[in-house]
Amino acid sequence: MKLDRTDGIIIALDGPAGSGKSSTARAVAERLGYRHLDSGAFYRALTWAALRANIPPERWPELTPDELDRLDVHGAPEGRAYRLTVGGWDVSEAIRTPEVNAHVSRMAAVPAVREWLMDALREAGARGGLVADGRDIGTVVFPEAELKAYLVCEPEERARRRLREQGAGVSEDEVRAEAARLQGRDQIDSGRAVAPLAEAADAVRIDTTRLDFEAQVEAVVKLARERAGG
Ligand code: DC
Repeated sequence: MKLDRTDGIIIALDGPAGSGKSSTARAVAERLGYRHLDSGAFYRALTWAALRANIPPERWPELTPDELDRLDVHGAPEGRAYRLTVGGWDVSEAIRTPEVNAHVSRMAAVPAVREWLMDALREAGARGGLVADGRDIGTVVFPEAELKAYLVCEPEERARRRLREQGAGVSEDEVRAEAARLQGRDQIDSGRAVAPLAEAADAVRIDTTRLDFEAQVEAVVKLARERAGG
């Protein structure tokens, strides 16, 4: 597919779980008048749909394109984002449950699944004006992105942010347990054979551990304006 830039540049935001990619991407898109593509949401919707269809995780590596089609997962542009549906139902909330969190890395490690999603993800960038976040956006999905940022953050701080977001307690025990879960997912995401979590050679690394949200967004917006030429 040929990409043009009628609507602006493409910004790729990659990084480990809980580094603040999605919330940063959403705010950057808002600021620039771009659209936000949360690629993780697509893997989550497929996970949710497969669980609901009672396809056991051990079978996921053998899913065929036809079976994936039948899961009826779609992402349609709506406002500045994409609305994920399964069988026509909005799954925006359903895909954020602990059950999906616990299984999604397995779905994302299946090569046929990544291949199946590729066209839909690239289609979103066909005219530019996109902030896409995920694990392989700058390396595989949009290697031609004008701006690639790689967000990193210490595991305990990522855990604290995630727990606060969920309205859960943030005792030291809970922080430790959540940090271990996040690192477990990172390990699967970085260790898989296909399109692992990786920093693109030409990415700008941003450590958000000691940045507040506003500063994080501003850092990306500033780079984006420079790369877009104004
Ligand atoms: O960003 P997230 O937590 O919603 O991502 C959910 C899972 O999907 C996570 O295990 C990593 C995987 N993922 C991926 O492999 N490639 C992407 N581009 C985005 C997400």
